[in-house]
Amino acid sequence: MSHQPIEIHARVTLPQLHAWYRAARRLVMTTAYDAVTARIADAAGVDMILVGDSVGNVCLGFENTLPVSMAMMNHHLEAVARTRPTAFLMADMPYLSFHLGVEDTVRNAGGFLQRGAQAIKLEGGAKRLPVIHALIDAEIPVMGHLGLTPQSVNPMGGFKVQGKQKADALRLLEDAQKLQEAGCFGLLLEGIPADLAAKVTETVEIPTIGIGAGPHCSGQVLVFHDVLGLLSGTSPKFVRRYAEGFETLRTAMAVWAEDVRGGGFPDERESYTLPEAVRPALTQWHP
Ligand code: KIV
Repeated sequence: MSHQPIEIHARVTLPQLHAWYRAARRLVMTTAYDAVTARIADAAGVDMILVGDSVGNVCLGFENTLPVSMAMMNHHLEAVARTRPTAFLMADMPYLSFHLGVEDTVRNAGGFLQRGAQAIKLEGGAKRLPVIHALIDAEIPVMGHLGLTPQSVNPMGGFKVQGKQKADALRLLEDAQKLQEAGCFGLLLEGIPADLAAKVTETVEIPTIGIGAGPHCSGQVLVFHDVLGLLSGTSPKFVRRYAEGFETLRTAMAVWAEDVRGGGFPDERESYTLPEAVRPALTQWHP
């Protein structure tokens, strides 16, 4: 009897991510919001999957991430977690899930871990330190998120590159230090000048994951749908499309629609056949 070797895919863990970081291996992260996107991302071998609150604008039709609730996040996280990805799985704390007190924050984030996430991410600098301390105390690994924090769209006056002014750049550098001291295992840097992101990366001892933050971060993240060109219209400057998914899929769907209208679909390849012995019964039957 021959035995096939069993391929065991060890799940990426926090110590593994830090070992890769120390070995200067660049970390790759993307978002996933359901079982299909999670399976594609995981099969592509990304290191980290984020169930981002960007689900709001990418999948749910909202203008921004502010309407995304814990219930929505839990629903999407559960779908992703059911695929048991090899990649490190993180979930994003949505707006108002960490603003109403430490206890509420820990309960929300702990719920993410109970649903299969290995860590959480939350937006904001020094003012988030009390909740970050409480989360880490509750054994919940935290990734910070600095720079263009989409939940601050109103005070920012839009989705604008942050840290261009001296005071803002210096505050961001201070915030990065404080979040590291508080115990964050990594920092997501979004929408900041590349040289500022480089300085953060150089001055902290935890991985930085950039999006619109230039090439000098310890790793990069892009939204799944942006990488694959699945959204119609033009992409923002920081996105590079690796497929024209929208056009490719639209064309395939239009060809199928044509086939249905023209009678070309389905044919015998997509049809089931009645057993020979049953056919006479059909012919003989009259209403
Ligand atoms: O929700 C999200 O998709 C994010 C991005 C910055 C990756 O936080």
